[in-house]
Amino acid sequence: MKKMLSNLGKHVAIVGTQWGDEGKGKLVDSISGKFDLVCRFSGGANAGHTIVVDGTKFIFHLLPSGMLHPKTIGVIGNGTVVDLPDMLNEIKQLSDAGLGNVGDRVKISLRAHVLLSYHKEIDQELERRKGDQKIGTTGRGIGPAYADKTARIGIRCEDLLDIDLLKEKIHQNCAFHSENYGLTLNAEEEIANLLAVREQIKPLLCDTRKFLHEEMKAGKTVLFEGAQAHQLDIDHGTYPFVTSSPVSTGGICTGLGIPPQKIEGVIGIAKAYCTRVGAGPFPTELENEAGEMLRKNGHEFGATTGRPRRCGWFDVPATKNSIETAGVNMVNLTKLDVLSGMKELQVATKYTLDGTEIFNVPTTKKNFKKLIIDYKSFPGWEEDISDVRTFDELPENAKKYVLALEEMIECPIQAIGVGADRNALIFR
Ligand code: GDP
Ligand code: IMO
Ligand code: MG
Repeated sequence: MKKMLSNLGKHVAIVGTQWGDEGKGKLVDSISGKFDLVCRFSGGANAGHTIVVDGTKFIFHLLPSGMLHPKTIGVIGNGTVVDLPDMLNEIKQLSDAGLGNVGDRVKISLRAHVLLSYHKEIDQELERRKGDQKIGTTGRGIGPAYADKTARIGIRCEDLLDIDLLKEKIHQNCAFHSENYGLTLNAEEEIANLLAVREQIKPLLCDTRKFLHEEMKAGKTVLFEGAQAHQLDIDHGTYPFVTSSPVSTGGICTGLGIPPQKIEGVIGIAKAYCTRVGAGPFPTELENEAGEMLRKNGHEFGATTGRPRRCGWFDVPATKNSIETAGVNMVNLTKLDVLSGMKELQVATKYTLDGTEIFNVPTTKKNFKKLIIDYKSFPGWEEDISDVRTFDELPENAKKYVLALEEMIECPIQAIGVGADRNALIFR
């Protein structure tokens, strides 16, 4: 691990390169003991980042996944949308797990947007109206909260400091959204919910941008924790089947107020196959026995919603697109252990549409239907690799698979996941 980190610098980003749930949380936890601060820069409680320590499972939704380390400071940047009662629950759960008063180590941006109950109601209403075109959101109110932000009517954490203004804004928004969506939104209830958590949240609020700059000036090390993943990015993903924020390295700059030069290294997380939860194009999807086997062996059920994840083969064009856009320096290939026992593995190597090679997943149904995918086949391996801790000890076919992926994605694979536990990692 040391060697891998020394190649990356003091301020490192971890981002998802596929459709989410690649295992970002596990690597953040594994390496965050080497960092002073861990920062979330986008998204909200739509994220579900799982960490397993000696058989005990922790799922982080809003808090950074580095918080299990007793000295880690967690920063929730201005680019996030924060469900405040959920945030306090998450802090309480961790504190109750014996980690001391975790709230003392959490800093929330005064400019982070507050996610209210009405955002969740609107999320569900929009999905209902879309019918068979629905996105399959996590139902956490993410899209409507970002919609308020860009419409410049959002409530920010700093508004908690002025109760009169807070009440006025919530009344206005409830009236506006009730009319727009034909819902009966209850402003008084929203206000009461916020006032109930206000005193607990206030000490956590700060100018996180200035705080981060000061910490970096003082030589502190920073890990930027991505949520969601490239193919769910509001701009670069499979729009409109995406989340509502920038999820890649660009989102770090805007979501924390950090200049790009400060992001010294980027680790991209890629599963050894692909999964997607929710609707939208998924080129290598397997709706057969092989897909079932991946879902079963990989326990592919959403960490936030429990929904079964759609499963498919590793997709080089989709992953390469992400690596290029995010400036990934090295990849952590995860869940290689899940492929044990599969006779043959396929990898998508090229997309062609109307006779021309393309480099994005087509987003319209018409083009998606016409997409031609080239696949390359690899022999599988039988051995259980979950106890393997060095690359050389892997079965020959597993090594060949990793080396072939590395060549095709044109990026070094320096860490390989072989199990859910925080230590189940091979560093090369
Ligand atoms: P995230 O959202 O990217 O943090 O990923 P999730 O936590 O939603 O999903 C990844 C799932 O795979 C979790 O259940 C992890 O515990 C598990 N996991 C992570 N890495 C590995 C691995 O290398 N092998 C296996 N078998 N499970 C893993
Ligand atoms: P982590 O950080 C997987 C998906 C949803 C849906 C779409 C929009 O755990 O990798 P949203 O609720 O954001 O409006 O839903 O994005 N989605 C995720 N899929 N992992 C995630 O986060 C996701 N966050 C959102 O399933 O398709
Ligand atoms: Mg997840």
